[in-house]
Amino acid sequence: MSTNPSTGADGPGSPPLLPEDTPAAPAELAVACGQCRRCGLAESRQQVVVGRGNPAARLLLIGEAPGAEEDASGQPFVGRAGRLLEQLLAEAGLDSERDLYIANVIKCRPPGNRKPSRAEIAACRPWLEQQIARQRPALIGLLGATALEALLGHKGGITKLRGQWLQPVEDRPQLSSDLLNTAQAIEQQPTESSTSRSPTQKPAQFITQSKTRTTTQRQDQALPTHRPGDHPNKRSINQQNNRSIHRHNINLQAIALMPLLHPSYLLRNPSGLEGSPKWHTLQDLRLLRSRLDDLAAGQD
Ligand code: URA
Repeated sequence: MSTNPSTGADGPGSPPLLPEDTPAAPAELAVACGQCRRCGLAESRQQVVVGRGNPAARLLLIGEAPGAEEDASGQPFVGRAGRLLEQLLAEAGLDSERDLYIANVIKCRPPGNRKPSRAEIAACRPWLEQQIARQRPALIGLLGATALEALLGHKGGITKLRGQWLQPVEDRPQLSSDLLNTAQAIEQQPTESSTSRSPTQKPAQFITQSKTRTTTQRQDQALPTHRPGDHPNKRSINQQNNRSIHRHNINLQAIALMPLLHPSYLLRNPSGLEGSPKWHTLQDLRLLRSRLDDLAAGQD
């Protein structure tokens, strides 16, 4: 792994060096993430939770953030939600050690399992970029609204989009420019009351592809605001984001993305009857399975 010593300082009191020219291998990434102090979650975490599964798989599942059991074990999706996910994956014919890799938008547990703040998501984003750049998945399953918003900027909830293949178009084809926009917007609008859009930020736009229809959606984004849990040095962290992170040109347009309901939501809605959230999720996972099969057969 090559690093850039001149830009390596990464957050208050920690100097993890980021790979400069190629995305890091999982073991190297785990070491770098373990030293990360890019946001305040480093203060309360027990372990950084990087990912598990097959890092060479064509499918990447992205959840929100570790919970208590993940924080204690260092593995994503090993608590109640994770066990339910494993059960549904198995029912859909997906082996989590062979067919996919699982990671989260946020690598450290937010205290009390609160939703991660925008600043935390922006601070953690380079690690997710590294993972996507290294794995180069053909398919990404976005588990829950936080992953959907973090990857595509869609703030309108997940219910209407779940189970559809999304393909980003025009405005935001590159994940890395998204990161830059988010970081810049946070710097420009640090107050909670502001709702106007930064000139640097563009609305999310993507094509939804289903068997019966293809539509283009635009989603206006409110600005990221300062929220409880944001790191006190948010401004300087985001300046460092912009300065010191090597950006990998990840072309999301080359990846088929599908939003799925988050397993924690399924725990709160346990019915498995036809038409229930759990039933829909199983159908969605089966779609992922069949797209993987098409890829393996060279049909995609
Ligand atoms: N929920 C998530 O989004 N990720 C985990 O790792 C566990 C629960």
